[in-house]
Amino acid sequence: MFFKERPILSTEVLIVYGSSKGRTGRMAQILAEELLAKGLLPVLKNVFEAKPEELNRYRYIVLGCSTDGQGDLQRDFLDFERGMDDLDLTGIKASIFGSGNSRYAFYGEAVDILEAKVKIQGARLILPSFRQDMMSETPDGEEVILWARELATAIAAEG
Ligand SMILES: Cc1cc2nc3c(=O)[nH]c(=O)nc-3n(C[C@H](O)[C@H](O)[C@H](O)COP(=O)(O)O)c2cc1C
Repeated sequence: MFFKERPILSTEVLIVYGSSKGRTGRMAQILAEELLAKGLLPVLKNVFEAKPEELNRYRYIVLGCSTDGQGDLQRDFLDFERGMDDLDLTGIKASIFGSGNSRYAFYGEAVDILEAKVKIQGARLILPSFRQDMMSETPDGEEVILWARELATAIAAEG
C-alpha cells in the first residue's frame, strides 16, 4: 500500500496569489482576515515566493490569479502552474478566485485554468470559483467580503 508522506496541517489554509496591480492581492488579504476571524490560520504567499510542492502540505489551498494577455494566467503564475503537473492533490480541498475585466473576451479565464488544473491533479473544490469584475466592483467591495466570509465559513465547518 502506498502512503503519502506529508504532514497535514489541518487548521492552516494556504493562499497563493498572483497579482499585477494588487487587486487579486487585496482579495487574498481579505480572505486571510476572514479566515482569522473564524479561528483558522491563513498562510498568505505571493506566487513568486511559493513553490508548487508546498500545496501538498496543506489540507486547504486557495489559489488567486488575475487574467492577463488574452485569457492567460497572471505572468508570475505561469511557472507555478506548470510546476503543478506532477502533483498529486488527492484529498486536498481547493478554492480558486481572481480579478478580471468583463470587457475582455476571456473574462477571468485564469480562474478557469486554475480550477481545471487543481481538479486534474486530484483536488476537490470547496465552493464554486469566484471572479471579481474590476469594471463594476472593487477588490475590497461587498461581493468580495461576502465571498471571503462564505469560504471561511465553509472551511471552518469542515474542520
Ligand atoms: C494586458 C492586459 C490584458 C488583460 N487581459 C484580460 C483578459 O483576457 N481577461 C480578463 O478578464 N481580464 C484581463 N485583464 C484585466 C485584468 O485581469 C484586471 O485589470 C485585473 O483587475 C488585474 O488584477 P491584478 O491587479 O490582481 O493583477 C487584462 C489586463 C491587462 C493589463
